[in-house]
Formats: sequence, structure tokens, C-alpha cells
Amino acid sequence: MKRILAGAAIVMLSMPFSALATTGEEVYKQTCFPCHNFGIAGAPQLDDKDDWAPRIANGMGDLYESALNGKGAMPAKGGNRVLSDEEVKAAVDYMVEKSK
Ligand code: HEC
Repeated sequence: MKRILAGAAIVMLSMPFSALATTGEEVYKQTCFPCHNFGIAGAPQLDDKDDWAPRIANGMGDLYESALNGKGAMPAKGGNRVLSDEEVKAAVDYMVEKSK
């Protein structure tokens, strides 16, 4: 019993660290994918260079702001409020990298 408790404690202690280690790609696949993979509701589709080019030209600051605060049909943080600002920005980086 003691061993099981110790194991559970280790898993719980390591969770905040694994959450911090979430990559942009993981955030994208968890939260942004449903709209951005298929261009739902006018979302710029991942890989669609023509749709992304003018957005990228506005600068990363604007793209981060849109993703963090919402834009048009997109809710703030893609509707996933538990994401940290850093995780949202990492997902934007991933999407831009894939769509250049
Ligand atoms: C509910 C659907 C939906 C989800 C989920 C969603 N988006 Fe969007 N996203 C949109 C739509 C629609 C637009 C186009 C908004 C516009 O230009 O009016 C958009 C636009 C964007 C843009 C371009 C903003 C700009 O200034 O041109 C970025 C960057 C972006 N999304 C990032 C993300 C990230 C990162 C996530 C996940 C954390 C995410 N989105 C989740 C619908 C979504």
C-alpha cells in the first residue's frame, strides 16, 4: 500500500512538469486541429500558404494576439482556457512553420 501511494505521489509530482513540456505540435493536435486542419468556419487551413501568407506578413505579434484573445469565429486560446500563453504561442509557431 505504501508503495502504491509513493508511486501515485511521483506521478502527481511529475505532472506539472510534463504539462510544461507540451510542444506546439501537441497543443495544435489537442485544441487547434478541429478547425485549422479542415478550414472550419473560415479558419486558415494548416499548409494553406496562400491563406497564411498575408497573416504572417502582419507579424507574429498579431498572430499571437489573435490566438490568445480570439478573432472572428475563433474563441480565445481556441476555446481551451487551461492552456498557458506560452503553449498557445508555441502552437502558433508550429502552425506558421507548417504553413510557410
Ligand atoms: C473553433 C474553431 C477554431 C479553433 C479551435 C482554433 N481556431 Fe484559430 N482560427 C479560427 C478562425 C475561424 C480563424 C480566422 C479568423 C479571422 O480571420 O476572422 C482563425 C485564425 C487563426 C490565426 C490567424 C490569426 C490572424 O491574425 O490572422 C491563428 C494564428 C490561429 N487561428 C491560431 C490558433 C491556435 C494556436 C489554436 C489552438 C490553440 C486555434 N487557432 C484554434 C478558428 C479556430
